[in-house]
Amino acid sequence: MGCNIAIDGPAGAGKSTIAKLVAKELSFIYVDTGAMYRAIALYLLRKGTDKNDPGMIAADCQEADISIRYENGEQQVLLNGENVTGDLRTEEVGNMASVSSANPKVREWLLSLQRDLAAKHDVVMDGRDIGTTILPNAEVKIYLTASVETRARRRYLELEDKGISCDLEEIKKDIRERDKRDMTREISPLRQAEDAALVDTSDLTIPQVVKRILQIYQEKMAN
Ligand code: DC
Repeated sequence: MGCNIAIDGPAGAGKSTIAKLVAKELSFIYVDTGAMYRAIALYLLRKGTDKNDPGMIAADCQEADISIRYENGEQQVLLNGENVTGDLRTEEVGNMASVSSANPKVREWLLSLQRDLAAKHDVVMDGRDIGTTILPNAEVKIYLTASVETRARRRYLELEDKGISCDLEEIKKDIRERDKRDMTREISPLRQAEDAALVDTSDLTIPQVVKRILQIYQEKMAN
């Protein structure tokens, strides 16, 4: 029997780091759905789509063919055949993705790609609506979160590490705005599924979080 693990939570909670490690431990495939939304956002930015025009976003997103493949176990995102994985993790793309992912047409565009992957493979899939909408029957559901301060500090260190200068207060403001957009949008807002286990990573190390999720997985599988 196949098994799917859904990990949802706000930006900066550590979803991708944790999901990747959990997938490796279990030999599952890691699916980063945020990267798919970012690839659409990149397309819209390149095209010059007006982010305040939902009709234009709905029309333009359908020109963006998104597919994924794996290289050495790492997810690669292809946008109309071009590997754009390295261009997705900028603040500009993240901010556009936060707006365009609220568009019903954009979500509909990516739904079957995500469900098909989960039907074909054992996956650890991370996002915002995986446990609530995409995989409501996932065997294991985790809601991963952390305080705004912790998430901002992590993002700050990550950017600093890459040699990008940034302002902690700006990052906090961005995170608060993104949380608000993700949690209050009409379609598939970010929320904890009723049957999801809450894991707050604020005071936990990465290995502690991975261990906790593997424990939850084992408990579920034993039942
Ligand atoms: O997780 P991330 O920062 O890469 O996600 C980028 C944006 O895409 C984020 O603002 C929320 C959105 N997103 C979404 O709406 N649904 C998902 N399943 C994944 C991401």
